Amino acid sequence: MHRVVTADEVQHRRVVARTAVANVSPVSTRRGTTVCYRRTTSTTRTVCGTGRTASPVVTVALVLTLTRYDGADAAALSELVHGVYAEQYPPGPDFSQWRDGQWARHRSRAEFALCVAREGDDVAGLIWSYLGGPGQYWTDAVQESLAPGVGQEWLGGHLEIVELVVRPAFRRRGIAARLLGSAVASTSARRALLTVRDGALPARALYESLGFTPLGRAFGDMTVMGLEVADGRCR
Ligand SMILES: CC(C)(COP(=O)(O)OP(=O)(O)OC[C@H]1O[C@@H](n2cnc3c(N)ncnc32)[C@H](O)[C@@H]1OP(=O)(O)O)[C@@H](O)C(=O)NCCC(=O)NCCS
Repeated sequence: MHRVVTADEVQHRRVVARTAVANVSPVSTRRGTTVCYRRTTSTTRTVCGTGRTASPVVTVALVLTLTRYDGADAAALSELVHGVYAEQYPPGPDFSQWRDGQWARHRSRAEFALCVAREGDDVAGLIWSYLGGPGQYWTDAVQESLAPGVGQEWLGGHLEIVELVVRPAFRRRGIAARLLGSAVASTSARRALLTVRDGALPARALYESLGFTPLGRAFGDMTVMGLEVADGRCR
């Protein structure tokens, strides 16, 4: 059973994790479907009354891991995913209905992938995606909303980014960009598509920074954005 750790606990663990380890270099390694990133931050202190800055006394070494799950393996993470989603959009959908309905449907789709970012045992964020096509709710609704030529060009066999959430305590550290990069890197699709709500300015800025462009409007208050996937990468 997975439990979503609260922001206070995250902060507490960071304090506890402080060690005197110095000069730890950033690393990026691949282990199966898990990618690790080590982030180091140092804290300096001012020598009292002198105005001089003393040598860094504390270094925090944090390892970020991104782990990908296919539809079958993601079933075991239903509570974790629902917890992160409900924390961002409280109270979230009814768990059983969501697990046996939308979540089960999404997990069964072609190229479904869930990617979870963790810092130690703490869940930092997640993304899930699959190949979109006609007959699916989102694809059909967006097809109706976009100008005909645009819809025909972009929809069908596209990578559909369904949800992306980075938990508040972990934001502005490039985690969402890495999660999106992971989704795009593993798709066979040539185009990635998503919708972003009008008020979601951080998300809009994120997508633009990665090369997504607006394609039209859908669902009343949302912009459809698309990205041509070049060499399995965002911009
Ligand atoms: C949108 C969200 C996923 C961004 O996660 P994040 O890990 O903080 O994003 P990153 O650190 O990877 O940001 C990458 C770039 O996106 C842009 N960006 C992200 N957050 C931003 C903000 N609050 N203001 C302005 N630009 C922002 C910046 O260009 C940033 O690069 P920089 O930090 O070098 O300036 C996160 O804020 C979130 O979960 N929001 C709530 C849920 C949501 O809106 N999801 C998207 C649904 S469409």
